[in-house]
Amino acid sequence: MHTRIGMAGLGIMGRGMANNLLRHGFAVSVWNRSPERAAEFSDRATVAKSPRELAASCSVVIGCVSDPPAVERVVFAEDGVLAGAQPGFRYVESSTVSSALTRRIAEAMRARGADALDAPVTGSKEAAEAGTLLFMTGGRQETHDELLSVLMAMGKKAIYCGESGQGSRMKLVGNTLISFMLEGLCEGLVAAAQGGLPTATVLEVIMASGFASPYFAFKGRALAEHDFAPHFALDLLVKDQTLMLAEASSLDVPMPGLSAIREVFRMAQARGYGRDDIAGVVRVLERAGESQTHQRS
Ligand SMILES: NC(=O)c1ccc[n+]([C@@H]2O[C@H](COP(=O)([O-])OP(=O)(O)OC[C@H]3O[C@@H](n4cnc5c(N)ncnc54)[C@H](OP(=O)(O)O)[C@@H]3O)[C@@H](O)[C@H]2O)c1
Repeated sequence: MHTRIGMAGLGIMGRGMANNLLRHGFAVSVWNRSPERAAEFSDRATVAKSPRELAASCSVVIGCVSDPPAVERVVFAEDGVLAGAQPGFRYVESSTVSSALTRRIAEAMRARGADALDAPVTGSKEAAEAGTLLFMTGGRQETHDELLSVLMAMGKKAIYCGESGQGSRMKLVGNTLISFMLEGLCEGLVAAAQGGLPTATVLEVIMASGFASPYFAFKGRALAEHDFAPHFALDLLVKDQTLMLAEASSLDVPMPGLSAIREVFRMAQARGYGRDDIAGVVRVLERAGESQTHQRS
């Protein structure tokens, strides 16, 4: 039913998602704030001048941009998606933002006879490129069902989480777990190395254990090689930690662990690692260990 799909945002995630829509035979239009990234698609896709033009020429637009200000710009600006939305139009919000923002988008779309689904993703750069993302959706069940063929061109599964905002909320909970897992792995590896345990041995034990996780294998490799080329930028995880803490506060739920972990990631930002991969946070702990050893000797 939906034949021309628009992609707003062609960063690490959006680029892979647009390529997979093309691979699945959809006609695709693209828009990106910096035109160079859209130009890469000009031989295979239509390049729109604005998100409004994208919405006016497509029956579905997927947004995947950095943060809440970026989503505000894409959706609510004078030349934004909302201004181009006709009755029957569908907007899919795949950026990681607050549940309040995705609820506001859905209400605004419905007021125009259109609809929106929050459909944030997990899987990072490799899954975006391979078309194996996991979507978690919020909105009307019938809109989720209607858009499944589009989502499945970019992912392997879409789990319906409930009303508008619940997909976004679920994504923030997921990134809370990522924060704990990564911080735990980094602290463990730094302490192990300081005590003379080889990183390869620690990772081998973890992966053979009952607490093994594919996430530890993925990030363990990056940490062992000190390869911090961005799959998921550290700045974006701090954005998600901050959104989760605000969400928890509005629900009167304490998250002391996440608050403490965010401070470590903020230290990494202060040291200039914000655009590196989230695994780059380990350097904060390594340096702290080195300086304490130096003080003792
Ligand atoms: N990378 C991951 O592993 C991952 C996984 C799951 C979810 N996510 C989420 O997916 C979203 C995109 O992440 P990404 O890794 O693809 O980020 P990215 O590579 O940094 O790309 C960010 C995109 O947002 C655009 N953008 C930034 N500020 C904007 C603004 N004010 N107005 C319009 N566009 C703006 C950028 O445009 P320019 O090209 O002009 O800078 C670019 O297209 C984020 O919400 C992130 O949290 C990421």
